[in-house]
Amino acid sequence: MAKSHIRMTVNGSAVEELAEPRVLLIHFLREQLALTGPHIGCDTGHCGACTVDLNGKSVKSCMVFVAQASGAEVRTIEGIAAADGTPHPLQEAFREHHGLQCGFCTPGMITRAWRLLQENPDPSDQEIRYGISGNLCRCTGYQNIVKAIRAAADQLNAHKEAAE
Ligand code: FES
Ligand code: FES
Repeated sequence: MAKSHIRMTVNGSAVEELAEPRVLLIHFLREQLALTGPHIGCDTGHCGACTVDLNGKSVKSCMVFVAQASGAEVRTIEGIAAADGTPHPLQEAFREHHGLQCGFCTPGMITRAWRLLQENPDPSDQEIRYGISGNLCRCTGYQNIVKAIRAAADQLNAHKEAAE
């Protein structure tokens, strides 16, 4: 199939590449842009390992053709830390509260949690569980993931209050 010019902003940088429109966004990110943080767990939209942010919404990038993301703002786990490399509070909280074991689900889980905390900065545990229900983890039993997201929310909110 003929290749098209695909332009998008990925983690704040403009990207222009030639790609077949039918290529999946996850393959474009991993294979063409070498952003291997988002993982491929199922390729069928079930596991959430491939979650990225697309125009302000969490999407499973194995369910999006690259042509559909043309012109979009995309953020992957590689774009969650600060520009100087300081980990985001969510990343710190996952480490501190043992929110990961094998880590395979973690990039998608954190990318989803990052958007969740913008949709709802002070979620209840139940809202966190609902918010990450599209992201499967086979290792942790979710307890520590929920604890980590709660801790990150508390830290971000305390920081916001202190700045006001
Ligand atoms: S790889 Fe996309 S949802 Fe599993
Ligand atoms: S930490 Fe292993 S799948 Fe979540």
